[in-house]
Amino acid sequence: MKRVKLWDKEFEISLPNADIQTAIKQMAVKMKKDLEGKEVLFICVLNGAFMFASELMKEVELNDAEISFLKLASYSGINTTGEIKELIGLNEVITGRTVVIIEDIVDTGHTIKEVIKQLIGKGAKEVKVATLLFKPDALKVDIKLDYVGLEIPNEFIVGFGLDYDRRGRNFKDIYTLVKE
Ligand code: IMP
Ligand code: MG
Repeated sequence: MKRVKLWDKEFEISLPNADIQTAIKQMAVKMKKDLEGKEVLFICVLNGAFMFASELMKEVELNDAEISFLKLASYSGINTTGEIKELIGLNEVITGRTVVIIEDIVDTGHTIKEVIKQLIGKGAKEVKVATLLFKPDALKVDIKLDYVGLEIPNEFIVGFGLDYDRRGRNFKDIYTLVKE
């Protein structure tokens, strides 16, 4: 499947599954080195990160790790981005813990910045970020990304968890929007 059509848009393959898996394996090795001996709580940001989290958790060799999931719900309110995101579904005690956020993609960085802020607000001792994809040219905020799988151009992509209007999350490869 080299090209796919989702709704009104055409996408073409840009990152085959094998490249994604290689990036995840490398990340898992680095994580083991950094985090061995710590009682890490991984937090997967749904929906987009579900596939990445699943692959990463199978590769990372940390015996005392735990994994949980949260969703972001937007609600109206005023902050710098004009939108505040609420973390929902997270029942774990965060206080005093080493938390690693598992995110699908960092684009402008606003989302991840807000998640970090809220986890620190819940008393996390240490918050690290693991993102499968990063668009350096789109970044608008000052944040530290501890683990980055692949840097990609500032173009819209789908697949491996990421969607275009709810579709494409199930693709094992990543596709880039074809410009008309
Ligand atoms: P940010 O707040 O601009 O960094 O955007 C983060 C969120 O936007 C991600 O968690 C994704 O859900 C979504 N997003 C950003 N870029 C893309 C893309 O190229 N395809 C699909 N979703 C994206
Ligand atoms: Mg996401």
